[in-house]
Amino acid sequence: MESNFKIRKVIKDDLTRIFQLEEEAFKPMNYPLFVLRQFYDIFPDLFFVAVDELNQIKGYCFGGIDHDRKIGWVFALAVTKPEQNKKIGQQITIELLSAFKTKSIYNVQLTTTPDNNAAINLYKKLGFKKATEVLDYYSDNSPRIIMKLEMK
Ligand SMILES: CC(C)(COP(=O)(O)OP(=O)(O)OC[C@H]1O[C@@H](n2cnc3c(N)ncnc32)[C@H](O)[C@@H]1OP(=O)(O)O)[C@@H](O)C(=O)NCCC(=O)NCCS
Repeated sequence: MESNFKIRKVIKDDLTRIFQLEEEAFKPMNYPLFVLRQFYDIFPDLFFVAVDELNQIKGYCFGGIDHDRKIGWVFALAVTKPEQNKKIGQQITIELLSAFKTKSIYNVQLTTTPDNNAAINLYKKLGFKKATEVLDYYSDNSPRIIMKLEMK
């Protein structure tokens, strides 16, 4: 399916809408608004939105870099339901991976739930491999898969 969208860096005014989309996609494990604001403050070059011609947000992806600047983390990725399966998720993740490369970060990690086939397939398509499954990642009995990518 085709979709007209462009990817741009996030701006502060996007954050409340992204918070709504976080809730739609991940509640009760969504990032609170104040944490989104903190990611925006700390890693503004690693926070992207996909927007349509009316500047409506169709998807977002953001990440961060670990303390010794060796590993980039994909912190969140989501696409609005009606816009899924149109390659928005893939393109916006590629944008984040490119941003890591410009910062000379070539090792990327993320976590996802083991039953999230859409996300796991997308990440595998981009070269990520399952590294480990942690049964109690958040100490609340919720398992997570850690996936890793080594870029050139
Ligand atoms: C996961 C998600 C971001 C995918 O975004 P998307 O824009 O719909 O995905 P894309 O169209 O870019 O698909 C790229 C690839 O991902 C995989 N994929 C996407 N949706 C899939 C599905 N429903 N089932 C299986 N594989 C899927 C496919 O490999 C696809 O490539 P292909 O179409 O050539 O087969 C989207 O489903 C979403 O927002 N889900 C809810 C939030 C979420 O789970 N985020 C990930 C948290 S780790």
